[in-house]
Amino acid sequence: MATSDHEVLHQDTRIHWQRFAVPFEYPVCFTRDALALENHTLLDAVRRLEPERRHRCIVFVDDGLLRAGKGQAGASLTESIAAYFNHHATSLELVAPPISVPGGEKVKNELHFVEDMQRRLFDSHIDRHAYVIAIGGGALLDAVGLVAATTHRGVRHVRMPTTVLAQNDSGVGVKNGVNLYGAKNFAGAFAPPFAVINDAQFLRTLERRDQIAGMAEAVKVALIRDGAFFTWLERHGDALALFEDDAVAHMVRRCAELHMHQIAHGGDPFESGSARPLDYGHWAAHKLESLTRHHLRHGEAVAIGIALDARYSVLAGQLAQGGDERICFLLEHLGFKLWHPALDTVDSAGGNAVLKGLEEFREHLGGELTITLLSSIGQGVEVHAMDEAMIMQSIEWLRRRAH
Ligand SMILES: NC(=O)c1ccc[n+]([C@@H]2O[C@H](COP(=O)([O-])OP(=O)(O)OC[C@H]3O[C@@H](n4cnc5c(N)ncnc54)[C@H](O)[C@@H]3O)[C@@H](O)[C@H]2O)c1
Ligand SMILES: [Zn+2]
Repeated sequence: MATSDHEVLHQDTRIHWQRFAVPFEYPVCFTRDALALENHTLLDAVRRLEPERRHRCIVFVDDGLLRAGKGQAGASLTESIAAYFNHHATSLELVAPPISVPGGEKVKNELHFVEDMQRRLFDSHIDRHAYVIAIGGGALLDAVGLVAATTHRGVRHVRMPTTVLAQNDSGVGVKNGVNLYGAKNFAGAFAPPFAVINDAQFLRTLERRDQIAGMAEAVKVALIRDGAFFTWLERHGDALALFEDDAVAHMVRRCAELHMHQIAHGGDPFESGSARPLDYGHWAAHKLESLTRHHLRHGEAVAIGIALDARYSVLAGQLAQGGDERICFLLEHLGFKLWHPALDTVDSAGGNAVLKGLEEFREHLGGELTITLLSSIGQGVEVHAMDEAMIMQSIEWLRRRAH
């Protein structure tokens, strides 16, 4: 890399190096009842740069949350959002009634939802100093994040994640995206949010499978970064399986913290290298999600991916014998199933379709294949190749354990 600002390579060729760095900063708040009138977390987050202004906001809400969710004091969620903006009308302006958008993978699979939302921003004259607030699961946040990032080349975006996975992982990070041509997150951008507000109360209405699904990311990040957190998860397995408030709150916060730390201090926040250190277990998970046409939730697929790569780590001589069993035991204790018939899918060439996930994982990142395995519980290790026969043995091991 050149160090001077100005190089003369040749009589007619000059290269002027353009260089600058942009610092990013955003609050990730943990609260309860964010829409209670006396709770100022959202208000303070929105007005933190210009406390005197009145801030224009448009709000998109996950329709699954609307169906399941309750607002404040018996009101509907939509009514509670409107009441909150009314109450704080000197600082906040709701430019349109809260807009319901399909939640789950549907919103990421059909591009017209992105355009519909952009149209709403256009109609409401949302400018670069206005706010796009998304309240919902990871899928809704990913789609609205893309809308916010691409409208006027970037409008302020506030996320209010409402699932375990979105609160402890996806919602606190810097990525958005939607699926295109059947490829997961094919169209998307790196775009840090303006603020993140995690309201523990939202998690209460989740279906049981969504309460559990997001815990896979906590197990994942504990396995590669924090052995003590893994032990904590084991000790609190019962409380987590029962979705007890305090245990869930701690799990969500610690997991979010570890993800935030990796983004800020891992040296590659926008993933320009070939490694994605936090994506342990994810190469198989992404493939299983698409093979099941998203009938498996992301977290459910990640749990299987974690188990597969734990067994592989043992077969590859990286992880001590028994580590795989211990990991599977915790996942099952939390409520995950570590087998799915999609693991047996045969592709057109007669091979196991899951294996294709490796190349697809490489292609999404570019560069050299880089997979994280485990060298111990709490320590990830990067490898650049995986042995197909050993992957198949790991799948067989999962089958035997499950049947
Ligand atoms: N951007 C990132 O860095 C990143 C990281 C990991 C995962 N993701 C993405 O996140 C998505 C998965 O997100 P998810 O696990 O949050 O699931 P999800 O967004 O698919 O939501 C699951 C279901 O829960 C409903 N729902 C949401 N909140 C609810 C609530 N409080 N009560 C009741 N129902 C509610 C939704 O309508 C949906 O039907 C995937 O698309 C995945 O690719 C993104
Ligand atoms: Zn994940």
